[in-house]
Amino acid sequence: MTTIQDLLADAHRVLTGDDARQEMEWLMDACCGIGRARQVAHPDATVPADKVDQFRSALQRRHSGEPLAYIIGKRDFWDMQLYVTPDVLIPQPDTEVLVEQALARIPDNAAWRIADLGTGSGAIALALAKERPACQLVASDASAAALSVAARNVKACRVSNVSLINTSWLAPLGPGSLDMIVSNPPYVADDDPCLLEGDVSREPRQALVAGPEGLDELEQIIRDSVHALKEDGWLLVEHGHDQASAVATMLASYGYREVFTLQDYGGNDRVSGGRRDDADHCTETL
Ligand SMILES: C[S@@+](CC[C@H](N)C(=O)[O-])C[C@H]1O[C@@H](n2cnc3c(N)ncnc32)[C@H](O)[C@@H]1O
Repeated sequence: MTTIQDLLADAHRVLTGDDARQEMEWLMDACCGIGRARQVAHPDATVPADKVDQFRSALQRRHSGEPLAYIIGKRDFWDMQLYVTPDVLIPQPDTEVLVEQALARIPDNAAWRIADLGTGSGAIALALAKERPACQLVASDASAAALSVAARNVKACRVSNVSLINTSWLAPLGPGSLDMIVSNPPYVADDDPCLLEGDVSREPRQALVAGPEGLDELEQIIRDSVHALKEDGWLLVEHGHDQASAVATMLASYGYREVFTLQDYGGNDRVSGGRRDDADHCTETL
């Protein structure tokens, strides 16, 4: 007979790091259906054999470096619990800054048409769709596998104002058709050593890398968005902590105005954006 306490002792031996306790609780909840309250209140309770096997196999996967979010198949983002698989980037808390900044610019009852480019799990599009139900969200991704994860999340969140398209960035979206574009694109340099570390090493490469300086996709989005945005429309992008100046320069050179950069919760430059200037000016600039 294996008890909750036995399994927690197994986990103590395998899991290390600051989040070990929290991870252990989440794994037991996900694999055995035993939440924290019961773990604490009934440590001597017996766990069914099939659940014991599931928990131990999950522990081994975690020990071998698999991200917790992929093992338990979910991740919290904004006020949602999103389904995730190795086909999508694990949504990050810093991306909530992008959501906050977008919301700060969308009036409460606005019926805007907004694109989320590279939607992955659908995190950004879903947060905006829930907070601004009168808006229409178009969420694109070049990865069909990522879009099926997003589709499952759209269904689970019961929103009807998100449509998904399998395309490269803005390809099928008409000129001057969007009030806002948001994107957390790949922005890691091809040879960045972080690609070999931790959770990042297990995430899809297509979701992460963007040329020698990590700026290739950001530049394409900034360039193409000029045409897809309506006059005065907003573009907001997430980027690396050391890319703010390059991104702000690109925004200015493609004719955006009111260019800004804001920090994430760790104080790093993380989100930049600007507004499409009037059409004549943009045409002249480009
Ligand atoms: C950094 S992930 C962001 C995922 C999600 N938006 C988030 O914040 O968690 C970048 C996403 O862009 C997608 N992507 C990469 N290249 C693309 C392209 N050319 N067109 C559209 N999406 C692309 C990837 O498949 C991935 O889902």
